Amino acid sequence: MAKEKLKRIDGCEDIRSALLPHCRLREGQIWQDTVRGHRIACLDATDKDAIAELMAAEKSSLAVQDPPYNLVVANTNSVNLGQTSVKDYLEWSRKWVGATCNVLKNDASLYVWLGADQKAGFQPLADIMVMMREFTELKTRSFITMRNQRGYGTQKNWMAVRQELLYYVKGQPTFNVEAEYTDIPKILRGYYKEVNGQMTENSERSKSKNIRAGNVWVDIQQVFYRMEENVPGCYAQKPLKATERIVSASSGCDDLVVDFFAHSGTTLLACERLGRRCFTSDVDPVFAEISIRRLERYRQTGKTGWQFNSPFPEVDVGWDQESRSGTGRVQNATPASDNLFDYLPARR
Ligand SMILES: C[S@@+](CC[C@H](N)C(=O)[O-])C[C@H]1O[C@@H](n2cnc3c(N)ncnc32)[C@H](O)[C@@H]1O
Repeated sequence: MAKEKLKRIDGCEDIRSALLPHCRLREGQIWQDTVRGHRIACLDATDKDAIAELMAAEKSSLAVQDPPYNLVVANTNSVNLGQTSVKDYLEWSRKWVGATCNVLKNDASLYVWLGADQKAGFQPLADIMVMMREFTELKTRSFITMRNQRGYGTQKNWMAVRQELLYYVKGQPTFNVEAEYTDIPKILRGYYKEVNGQMTENSERSKSKNIRAGNVWVDIQQVFYRMEENVPGCYAQKPLKATERIVSASSGCDDLVVDFFAHSGTTLLACERLGRRCFTSDVDPVFAEISIRRLERYRQTGKTGWQFNSPFPEVDVGWDQESRSGTGRVQNATPASDNLFDYLPARR
């Protein structure tokens, strides 16, 4: 049976140290793409000077940010590390949101992926939503929920399958509504209205035969190890389809898009495929390297990921053992070790 060969990198110090010598970037370094002008860096998103260096005075039309969520899931496949306090998490978040605002154009969009701990007052989602009001240049536009196929929970609660996405705008950026249409055909008829003296039915009046995603996205497959786009070792990879929806809706051709929590490089790949430029970074050199490799692999093979094969084929770290149990990708909803202690900003 096919298996994913690489364990979660974040929770496996022996694997991280085996991979590190194969990574091109060290903290503070920036890789410049000579083909399309993307930049991939190993930087701390809260370090505004480092981010300014990455931007080199350019401004962005769109930021797609997917920070660690300060959540822990009691899951056998998880590395259970502690969470930081909500207060510390908010203080940390203020810094990366501030650094992001600094690099946005006057008319720009900001999307933030987040999670809510249903056993702890729905932190950090609730707290972040309130904290974001301090950034008065940002206006709230939508609160999107993406439905994951697989969830977590007990038999005594509703299965947790939601993934939250906050959408803010600065100024008046364009919104390409065509990007909102799903592949799902309209099947319900109704909503009659008189047009030019004729009674018309909803589907006759509408622009598309498919339904709009709206702010509850149910049409996106959660990434798992049998999908081509899967990047082994990345526990919190977002689906390319969701990211491409955001990039298509809120940026135009050749626009500059930023993502300071690159991980598997999904925003970068979406930008490459859609003809945008992307400046992206991760505090962890292994994830910065994976992002570079994912771009290179796409250009060489047209493949969007490695499915269940390792992105570091040159490193042998005993990947014969099964790396992911049936519950593995559950952390995508609320990553167990996706907390601040994992990624304390290293010194530049
Ligand atoms: C939830 S993942 C992002 C997933 C990404 N959207 C994808 O599709 O692959 C969060 C990432 O943020 C990185 N990270 C954590 N703290 C950071 C910081 N202070 N600065 C930059 N990156 C950070 C982690 O290493 C991790 O790769």
